[in-house]
Amino acid sequence: MKDKLINNQLKLITTFVVIVGIGIIIKNSNIHFPGNFEGYEPKQPIAFSHQLHAGEMTIPCMYCHFGAEDSKHAGIPPANVCMNCHEFVNNNTNENKIAEKLGRKVEVSPEINKIYESFGTSEKNYEDKSPTEWVKIHNLPDFVFFSHKPHINAGIDCEKCHGDVASMTRVKQVNDLSMGWCLDCHRQDHESLNNTKERKSQLQDCATCHY
Ligand code: HEC
Ligand code: HEC
Ligand code: HEC
Ligand code: HEC
Ligand code: HEC
Repeated sequence: MKDKLINNQLKLITTFVVIVGIGIIIKNSNIHFPGNFEGYEPKQPIAFSHQLHAGEMTIPCMYCHFGAEDSKHAGIPPANVCMNCHEFVNNNTNENKIAEKLGRKVEVSPEINKIYESFGTSEKNYEDKSPTEWVKIHNLPDFVFFSHKPHINAGIDCEKCHGDVASMTRVKQVNDLSMGWCLDCHRQDHESLNNTKERKSQLQDCATCHY
């Protein structure tokens, strides 16, 4: 009787340890299950920093995410957009600037070299042979319809949904993208809607977000 009890407790403890262990492994990996992924902050194949580009250098979000205004997707910029600058900027360290002045060979920064490598050739012929496989962070389930276009045209800032991306070295999902989150905002007054009753109720209609 006592043995059986201890046995059961051992089983319980083992199960608990295994579950916690799996939880830790998933949290530290890039495995992404559907669901609410508030706080999801995967490592990206190139150490691209929004804090540097959008923050310090104040490059507008739309310069890279030009799809947001007219389409469903904001999109991730193709390598040619990076090449507008990185054809010339290949290493910005002080040692490099000194080397350049002394006429020594300039080492290309390994992270920027990954942009060049995606073209699969040393000649920069602007044909992206093996595009960088960025890890997608925000993911709605297939049965939800979302488009950037109406939101951007209504004057809603990127930050309202994505947080202060310009201060992030690595992008992190800050909202849970749940139905409640969408509806919370759809229930509020918005100038662009002229706040007519019909338009507001349309925004809460199931068919607006579910086909
Ligand atoms: C110089 C180009 C560039 C600029 C400027 C830029 N981004 Fe990005 N953005 C990227 C790239 C590349 C990625 C994919 C890698 C990553 O997640 O960091 C990305 C990813 C993102 C993502 C995550 C997409 C996903 O996978 O779900 C969001 C959100 C985002 N950017 C918002 C913004 C906002 C908001 C601004 C302006 C404050 C901005 N970006 C400015 C290039 C840029
Ligand atoms: C009303 C909320 C909202 C606003 C405003 C918004 N986004 Fe998004 N964004 C989302 C959602 C939700 C997703 C996930 C879409 C999906 O999985 O289909 C997303 C996805 C993205 C992605 C991933 C690639 C893609 O296009 O799906 C990028 C990049 C992005 N947003 C950038 C931006 C930028 C830049 C702005 C401002 C110009 C912006 N977003 C404004 C809600 C918003
Ligand atoms: C408008 C010009 C501009 C664009 C567009 C741009 N960058 Fe940059 N980027 C720079 C400059 C300038 C630096 C160096 C800043 C510094 O180190 O002070 C830099 C730095 C970097 C670094 C860090 C350099 C290192 O040595 O590790 C990476 C990585 C990078 N960029 C990737 C990208 C990628 C990927 C894209 C396209 C999605 C992109 N950049 C688009 C101007 C740009
Ligand atoms: C921060 C506020 C805000 C959030 C968050 C938000 N929306 Fe919206 N959404 C709006 C506003 C405002 C409009 C109406 C824009 C207009 O037509 O002036 C709109 C319009 C839409 C439309 C177009 C409706 C139509 O008939 O034209 C769809 C679809 C939509 N939203 C889906 C979503 C989904 C799905 C989410 C969550 C993933 C979401 N929205 C999150 C504010 C928001
Ligand atoms: C403004 C957009 C929006 C509207 C309007 C909306 N939904 Fe959703 N719905 C969503 C989003 C986003 C999800 C995905 C939630 C997630 O992944 O956590 C969702 C998920 C669901 C789910 C899956 C279960 C769940 O909770 O995750 C069901 C069922 C559902 N919605 C039914 C409805 C019905 C019924 C209505 C009308 C009364 C409705 N929805 C109106 C955005 C919306």
